[in-house]
Amino acid sequence: MTEPTYEKEVRGYFADKAEAYDDVDLQPYWVLSDRLLADALREDVISALPEDFAFLDAGGGTGRWTSFFAQEAPRSTGVLFDLTREMIKVAEAKAAERGFADRVRFVQGDLADVGETLRGESFDLAFNFHNVLGFVADPEQTIKDVAGLLKPGGLLVSFLPSVWHTAWFNIAVGNIDEAEKALTRRGRFTDTMPDMHLYDVQRIEEMHAAAGLEIDALSGFPNLIYPGYQETQLHGSTEQLVDILAGDDFERVLAMEKRVRKAPGIAGRGNNLFVVARRPA
Ligand SMILES: C[S@@+](CC[C@H](N)C(=O)[O-])C[C@H]1O[C@@H](n2cnc3c(N)ncnc32)[C@H](O)[C@@H]1O
Repeated sequence: MTEPTYEKEVRGYFADKAEAYDDVDLQPYWVLSDRLLADALREDVISALPEDFAFLDAGGGTGRWTSFFAQEAPRSTGVLFDLTREMIKVAEAKAAERGFADRVRFVQGDLADVGETLRGESFDLAFNFHNVLGFVADPEQTIKDVAGLLKPGGLLVSFLPSVWHTAWFNIAVGNIDEAEKALTRRGRFTDTMPDMHLYDVQRIEEMHAAAGLEIDALSGFPNLIYPGYQETQLHGSTEQLVDILAGDDFERVLAMEKRVRKAPGIAGRGNNLFVVARRPA
């Protein structure tokens, strides 16, 4: 079967980025965002799971978050599922190097087929981080398919691109056409990336309800500091952000972000929206 044009574009985009993708670890803004995500996962997710939980990293890319869970929970086992062979290759090397290759399986595929491909398997936790549900063809259907792979009581955790942040970002870089488009829940940050699905609270609530999932927590972050143009690239950092996040101020901003993460109504300010949902037991 011929691959649909959009999936081909997405795969090409990530194939080109695979080798240097982990360089985001050198950008202070993303280090801050990852520290917040890791904290949220420890507090709201790992604490709610059995020690030997089984996870599905949907659109797992270079395995940055498979690695997090495998290392935080040494009795966990997982499947990393991704469209892009080049991303998976980096993830496999990371698993071997960090000593958890025997606990993780790597599957190349389109999330449009995940229900079929992983039929018969079940997971305590499924997660999709950093725009994965931006890039699938039909996110509402993908959520239903992934929900079908969860055990009763299992968790689906998402970190999703926001309608409002995308509109703000495009206005900030002078791209008013893209900002207007973002309000239709489609958009992008640069003209070299494929269009993504974008999310707001209403869409999140509706898509989870339609998949039979109950939302345990819905917030967003970072809320008090936003990325610049350089942070949409794999290299380089916006000078002003480096100035702000250099030295001790990094920890102070991080502490403020942690303080407001669960503030009622904060979700809409976040660069990304963070959702913890549960398949009813
Ligand atoms: C921005 S990366 C995020 C990777 C990883 N989740 C992380 O947080 O580091 C998005 C990933 O989604 C994958 N992806 C995009 N569309 C997909 C699809 N239809 N099926 C499976 N994976 C997909 C890409 O190959 C890429 O690795």
